[in-house]
Amino acid sequence: MVPCLLRGSRHGLCKIDMNYQWYPGHMTKAKRMMQENIKLIDLIIELVDARIPVSSRNPDINELGRGKSRIVLLNKSDLADEIRNQQWRNHMESEGVYVLEVNSKTGAGIKAINALVQKACAEKIERDRKRGILNRPVRAMVVGIPNVGKSTFINSFAGRACTKTGNKPGVTKGKQWIRLNSKLELLDTPGILWPKFEDRVVGMHLAFIGSMNDEIVIIDELACELLDSLRMSYPDSVTGRYGITWGADAPATLEEIARSRGCFLKGEALDLKKASGLLLDDFRSGRLGRITLERPEGLV
Ligand code: G4P
Repeated sequence: MVPCLLRGSRHGLCKIDMNYQWYPGHMTKAKRMMQENIKLIDLIIELVDARIPVSSRNPDINELGRGKSRIVLLNKSDLADEIRNQQWRNHMESEGVYVLEVNSKTGAGIKAINALVQKACAEKIERDRKRGILNRPVRAMVVGIPNVGKSTFINSFAGRACTKTGNKPGVTKGKQWIRLNSKLELLDTPGILWPKFEDRVVGMHLAFIGSMNDEIVIIDELACELLDSLRMSYPDSVTGRYGITWGADAPATLEEIARSRGCFLKGEALDLKKASGLLLDDFRSGRLGRITLERPEGLV
């Protein structure tokens, strides 16, 4: 276990032990694999979670993907605030990033990717053309942090019609490519990036969306942090869902939720852990509404 301290939580230090997924050994291996694979590709398709577009990115990708075209997909956009999705899109586009909102689960938004790939790789295609190389497909790799939806995306984007092209001697030894169409091939193994979870806010946001094992966090503290965050930006999400009013503070509100949902231990005592689990579940599955926890700098 790798201990990571989320500093400054409401009770001093909230200790989070990262589960097996977060072993440094795994990170080193994943990074090495990505470095190897990145040499083979023209384009990086980077998935971020639309609810936390900052915390679900890894700045290392800028270094790793230097010289490659890039498309950012705001995945799970169905769970995120529509207005914020648009704001994030505008913000990223203003920084010269190609970006799309997608829902990998239903496939919404995915059709638009092919045209964007051609746009993002226009220079490379033109370079090829000048060298007399016609119709060489763009090679892309999907990258993102664990649980952001990479496998779901690849399945949805590739669909059933795709064919695996197999190993190409010399060039792509040992790699499986999925030919999506005559213009695009996808490396079928996604690249795993690691979030900057040592940062308190990043760690918290990842825990809210369920990217960390709940067994490693103190669930009622996490629920209270989420309540504080929702009270500021989406106050009606909680009062509307549970038919309560906001308490004096987050623990008091959590008690209200426990009462309204009948979460009791033996006797009259409230089961706050159960209420916390309900709240987090409702948030993660979108039952509190479409919520985005991070906004582009400078926007209210
Ligand atoms: P990974 O490869 O990046 O680790 O992620 P993976 O595809 O396994 O997806 C993680 C979870 O996110 C899955 O849910 C998946 O269904 C869900 N997911 C992926 N993309 C989207 C999206 O655009 N919208 C929504 N709402 N969910 C998405 P799960 O609970 O682990 O499994 P299940 O719900 O599919 O049974």
